[in-house]
Amino acid sequence: MAEHPPYPVGLRLLGRRVVVLGGGQVAQRRLPALIAAGADVLLVSPEATPSVEALADTGRITWLKRPYEPGDLEGAWYALIATSDSDANSRASAEAEADRVWCVRSDDADAATAWTPATGHSEGVTVAVLTTEAKGRDPRHTAAVRDAVVEGLRDGTLVAPHHRTRTPGVALVGGGPGDPDLITVRGRRLLAEADVVIADRLGPRDLLAELPPGVEVIDAAKIPYGRFMAQEAINDALIQHARQGKSVVRLKGGDPYVFGRGMEEVQALTEAGIPCTVVPGISSSVSVPGAAGIPVTHRGVAHEFTVVSGHVAPDDERSLVDWPSLAKLTGTLVILMGVDKIGKIAETLVAHGKAPDTPVALVQEGTTAAQRRVDATLATVAATVAAEEVRPPAVIVIGEVVRVGPHPPEQR
Ligand SMILES: C[S@@+](CC[C@H](N)C(=O)[O-])C[C@H]1O[C@@H](n2cnc3c(N)ncnc32)[C@H](O)[C@@H]1O
Repeated sequence: MAEHPPYPVGLRLLGRRVVVLGGGQVAQRRLPALIAAGADVLLVSPEATPSVEALADTGRITWLKRPYEPGDLEGAWYALIATSDSDANSRASAEAEADRVWCVRSDDADAATAWTPATGHSEGVTVAVLTTEAKGRDPRHTAAVRDAVVEGLRDGTLVAPHHRTRTPGVALVGGGPGDPDLITVRGRRLLAEADVVIADRLGPRDLLAELPPGVEVIDAAKIPYGRFMAQEAINDALIQHARQGKSVVRLKGGDPYVFGRGMEEVQALTEAGIPCTVVPGISSSVSVPGAAGIPVTHRGVAHEFTVVSGHVAPDDERSLVDWPSLAKLTGTLVILMGVDKIGKIAETLVAHGKAPDTPVALVQEGTTAAQRRVDATLATVAATVAAEEVRPPAVIVIGEVVRVGPHPPEQR
């Protein structure tokens, strides 16, 4: 630690004069933050980079097109000295010292009275990192520390719970298909701040192991439901925990609104008067085929993709799917929850006009270490699923897109 480390402070510059000397790269880097702070910026420089010039053209800064002259710092609260003329820089910094204007110097940190920290922002917090001594200043290290803190806050790997602003309630978080890296930044942050997490069997289960001690993790499949339906018991658990003033995350696989019963949970929470937020997730319907090298659309091959639930057979009276119409589509069919019924589904599609040699791929446990892809056609898929012992969860893709990727398909 240096004997006299800099004293960090946040300047509130709204409407206050800031003088910038030099219109080069340093000014270009610093001006946006000064403008964002509402400073009244005066740039003094014979020339400027095109981006700095654009700021002047749009009236966001005032530009005096000439070299520095004594007296330019008059009325300034803060100065940024960054011309290519070191003699002018020294004269300007002497003026700043005499006028008690804090000044940053791009060419000589020792001579400056202020240093610019590496800054970043995350969720209403500004992170500013300063080196403690002029000698041995390592701006790249300072920027790396800033990046580590900001990224950690954004992705939840650095846990800094919001004690004052955190409101109790429920966040329905789409966790993506399973790979822990495929949750959104917002989802990961909410997870890191949760008191209680109610998790599905699918989704990024590995993230549960990283939760801070003290977080209560509840397996949705194991909530006893007695006289309720399983979904009602889950809704009830969400409501009860939120009523205890806790931050509850309902971690779901894929996206909450794609066969995820997300809206049923939102409705139950709304009826109970519990604040609720929904965070979208990457749905397995697109990402799992993609992870196995299958694009759901491809130029000249498929101009549409249709995502269908296969949890009830086509001849089941509960089915809401118009299979005969689907058989007539030329695009890609993506079937979720269809492993058990794929024989009947393939039969129905062929009976209504799909070619028996239409390619089919089943991608089991996509994006996880256990991912595997099994290829077939509509004619062979039932036998292939049995022979290869394909098990849920799997996404089934039907259509020519199955054949467009490199062969053998690149596995994760
Ligand atoms: C109840 S649905 C939930 C879908 C989820 N909301 C989504 O957007 O991905 C469950 C089905 O999604 C598919 N699925 C989800 N994650 C999967 C994965 N990692 N690999 C393969 N299929 C997956 C399977 O078809 C599974 O039966």
